Amino acid sequence: MLAETELNISDFVYPLFVDESIQSPVEVPSMPGVHRFPVDSLIGEVSDLCELGIPAVILFGIPSQKDGTGAHAWGHGDVVQRAVRKVKHEFDDEIYVITDVCLCEYMDHGHCGIVEGEQVLNDPTLELLGRIAVSHVEAGSDMVAPSGMMDGMVRAIRSSLDGEGYSDAGIMSYAAKYASSLYGPFRDAADSGYAFGDRSSYQMNPANVDEALREVELDIGEGADIVMVKPALTYLDMLYRVKERFRVPTAAYHVSGEYSMVKAAERLGWIDGERVMHEVLLSIKRAGADIIISYAAKEFSKLSREESV
Ligand code: PBG
Ligand code: ZN
Repeated sequence: MLAETELNISDFVYPLFVDESIQSPVEVPSMPGVHRFPVDSLIGEVSDLCELGIPAVILFGIPSQKDGTGAHAWGHGDVVQRAVRKVKHEFDDEIYVITDVCLCEYMDHGHCGIVEGEQVLNDPTLELLGRIAVSHVEAGSDMVAPSGMMDGMVRAIRSSLDGEGYSDAGIMSYAAKYASSLYGPFRDAADSGYAFGDRSSYQMNPANVDEALREVELDIGEGADIVMVKPALTYLDMLYRVKERFRVPTAAYHVSGEYSMVKAAERLGWIDGERVMHEVLLSIKRAGADIIISYAAKEFSKLSREESV
């Protein structure tokens, strides 16, 4: 009765990796319990998620071919578009489908935009992001989530979508995404490591507060429906500030490294993984997250059901 914060399964979004090159699910070695799925086995997985009460997924595509132009990111027959059509055809409104919009998984150099020399070019990338977003929504995606931290990406995507008649499709912006070292296991999972440099020319400096608030303000002005802070645990202060200041729907991405740290310590027998995971998720909600994107969503659901029996 006196608990002020309560986690609900309806707070969660579960990330799904769809791999064009595999025939059956493959576990990600650095993320126990997390798999890459071929398009054809998504139905089974999503039906499990629905049964667990998970309301939404965010899809990441792993194409069989990469190049220097990102050409496999927006085709009708490309991996994410096929996956979305399949899931929406089968489940319709039973599951809310968000698609990550970025180029890093589709580029041979692994960066989130068009590259010239060793420089990531912001403005030429925007047009491609618009094209990718339209292709996702055309396939049935309910909401697109640009994650590349290009300046102006929300406006570019909003105007591309509106221009094609998709004004109902939402945008969740990775608004305050830090250049964190906690994305390592994701880059294994999504095969999106980069060939040179790092992402600090477009992602946020972990030392900065005001700059992140400006980024969030800009994205809201450009038309973001949900703003995200990422990672979660090491940026709970930012989550709190963003929610307090803007009072808009705020998401936190509990990222791969945060998940894997708990799993690793649990495997070593050093912590009680279930309890620590729950405490971490609760802290994210307490700090102000309306929405939590987490690889631990399935286990949270199972645990909360056992407890309520
Ligand atoms: C790609 C992207 C990344 C994540 C989500 N989208 C990786 C990155 O920026 O390097 C990280 C998610 C995670 O670590 O769980 N733009
Ligand atoms: Zn990216």
